[in-house]
Amino acid sequence: MKYYQGHEQVYQRLEQAGKTQWADRAGGQGVEVECGNLRRSLEELFAHVAFAGPDLDALDLGCGTGPISHELAKRGFATLGLDVSAIAVKIAQRLAAEAGLARAAFATGDIVDYPDRSRRFDLVVDAACLHCIVFDGDRAAALANIRGLLKPEGRFLVNTKTSLGMPDPGPNFVLDETGILWVRTPRRICEQSKEIDGGWLMPQRRALSPDALRAELAAAGFAVDTSWTTGSGLFGAICRRA
Ligand SMILES: C[S@@+](CC[C@H](N)C(=O)[O-])C[C@H]1O[C@@H](n2cnc3c(N)ncnc32)[C@H](O)[C@@H]1O
Repeated sequence: MKYYQGHEQVYQRLEQAGKTQWADRAGGQGVEVECGNLRRSLEELFAHVAFAGPDLDALDLGCGTGPISHELAKRGFATLGLDVSAIAVKIAQRLAAEAGLARAAFATGDIVDYPDRSRRFDLVVDAACLHCIVFDGDRAAALANIRGLLKPEGRFLVNTKTSLGMPDPGPNFVLDETGILWVRTPRRICEQSKEIDGGWLMPQRRALSPDALRAELAAAGFAVDTSWTTGSGLFGAICRRA
């Protein structure tokens, strides 16, 4: 298993508890933290960019159970929600069907390794996915795929944690000097786990500075039209192909 596939267990627990969203995972605590921020980013996007036309396509990256697809579908986009978690995708499909969102589709897939170019998008939303992809090589591969999936005038909306939003992680975590947050686990969970002091660390999040994120986006061939950082340290940016 790759480190970012560990979310599957979280969705399994959510499903068993009869819950439907990533933001509900901590027993109701922190509900809306992730999605609330993402919705505000969408408002920022639509204030800056006038998407026009009857055939707008959006990719909801790291869709989870699909809250952002729902927002985009309400704004007239045909959406594809992509997530490595098959359970999340199954819940997303059920919720979209219940809501009558006929143009919201979902698929299991990994943006780090995503060769399909059969459909290109007017909008790709990083729905709090990029910060789950921690290693430089994986992030470069994901960003190259995102760039390749955009139509020439398409936009990439970034929503990702920064080092500004990282409180003291506490004893169960190690935040290294490159901004990788590792979680302590009693056993080896994934290929990228590393042994430390008789226990194991599993990579979980990457939190770069806003400047480092802008540099990473530029190196991946994106021009940043505008960017912002929220009070909780989430970095948002509206990008296009440079
Ligand atoms: C923080 S959750 C956010 C979920 C959802 N967007 C929401 O706001 O409720 C991040 C999601 O990204 C997914 N993810 C992580 N790495 C991924 C990858 N390489 N490709 C596709 N999805 C990925 C995870 O499975 C998880 O569902």
